[in-house]
Amino acid sequence: MTEGIRKILIIEDDEGLQRQYKWNFDNYDIIFAGDREQALDYINRYDLKVVLLDLGLPPDPDGTTEGFAILNEITQRQPNCKIIVASGHEARASAIKAISLGAYDFYQKPVDADEIRFMVERAFNLYDLEQENRLLQKQQKAPRLRGLISACDKMEKVCAVIERVAPTNVSVLLLGASGTGKELLAHSLHDLSERSEKPFVAINCGAIPENLIESELFGFEKGAFTGAHKQVKGKIEMAEGGTLFLDEIGDLPLAMQVKLLRFLQERIIERIGGRKEIAVDVRVVSATHQQLHNQSDGGVFQENQFREDLYYRLSEIVVNIPDLKDRDGDALLLAHSFLNKYANQYQKGAKTFDHKAVKAIGSYQWPGNVRELENRIKRAVIMSDNSKISFKDLQIDYDDGQNDVMNLKEIKQISEKSTIIKALAQSKGNISETARLLGISRPTFYGLLKQYNINIEK
Ligand SMILES: Nc1ncnc2c1ncn2[C@@H]1O[C@H](COP(=O)(O)OP(=O)(O)OP(=O)(O)O)[C@@H](O)[C@H]1O
Ligand SMILES: [Mg+2]
Repeated sequence: MTEGIRKILIIEDDEGLQRQYKWNFDNYDIIFAGDREQALDYINRYDLKVVLLDLGLPPDPDGTTEGFAILNEITQRQPNCKIIVASGHEARASAIKAISLGAYDFYQKPVDADEIRFMVERAFNLYDLEQENRLLQKQQKAPRLRGLISACDKMEKVCAVIERVAPTNVSVLLLGASGTGKELLAHSLHDLSERSEKPFVAINCGAIPENLIESELFGFEKGAFTGAHKQVKGKIEMAEGGTLFLDEIGDLPLAMQVKLLRFLQERIIERIGGRKEIAVDVRVVSATHQQLHNQSDGGVFQENQFREDLYYRLSEIVVNIPDLKDRDGDALLLAHSFLNKYANQYQKGAKTFDHKAVKAIGSYQWPGNVRELENRIKRAVIMSDNSKISFKDLQIDYDDGQNDVMNLKEIKQISEKSTIIKALAQSKGNISETARLLGISRPTFYGLLKQYNINIEK
């Protein structure tokens, strides 16, 4: 969930007011609609969090028919959207009716810049909170694979493939960057199969020295080599009836690839130093973060690092696991889940994330994926004694461009800027008139425009 500039739809036909809103919401991405048709066009095109809606619009600018018709459309099509309704002095009753029909809040014209800014800010915050809550509830309702947390469509698809192929014996190759959950999914494939009562045996092909990997996989007989004091079964044999998980398969040395291929073709092994052929029934799941097979240029096949024939044996089904940054909303969902898990585990009491931590989690790129997220949260829970975890506790570089505490000078500047904007709106951008309203000279006024970076053209 990348946190960009907030988009707001303002449905208002009065150009003067549109100008004022532009100044008021200069840090928002504003889209204006002047009538119902244009409004509906935007409502169909964008997912909207907050809409400002003037009830009196052409062709009925003094009534409310257009406003209510739009309100009805938005509540039907985007029921989670926060709609703030604007009404004239005498139309308080209509505003209240709008609330009963699903609007979030209302204000009476003339517009007070500060009031409306706060109202909009609050609506966005509430929307974000509710959205987070919806994700959590969705997750609670649908735990598909044990221990796997996700609410995004991409992972839904991955889970659907896992569920479908789990009961079969096909070889599955899991492709995903470090920490994306390859091992977790390999476990799911096992748990959801008829082999679940039998062993799940994992071997990390990248972590075992080349000279030991053969004995790890195939085992050895007593006396096969110096130090072989007794017969030892290999991992393949240990997985009999169950699932063999070959992790980091891309690191398997070429000589071992040949031996593994032979096993996959014939389903028999010979222990080192043994003469007997032993039939083994295992289901093979493998995983790698490497691109073993590059469709466009033949990839590593050409460089002779990974055998093509082995690749095709292992990859009857290929599952691509997306990076965490590409799973909408999942980072936050996982973060909450890990927060609860570790707060319980370390008996730290109830913990939550503060507002900026939520934003930071949503915008950080998570190069180490779920593993990194889990580690950062675990560390924050252990290291912090506060009930609210901040982005600093998570040690994420995050800059929202705002300081927590405003000093008096900043408050004065904000109110000065907003007064200038109001005056500009009132005088429709006329410089002399605005300077007169503010009781200052034109040069002073120009100085202030420059200081506050106010663009009159806007
Ligand atoms: N969707 C998920 N929901 C909950 N926990 C997850 C999810 N994905 C991964 N995890 C957890 O994140 C950690 C890393 O996952 P896993 O070991 O399966 O990843 P991996 O792809 O095998 O990583 P690596 O390439 O580093 O070996 C584990 O603790 C796992 O339980
Ligand atoms: Mg792994």
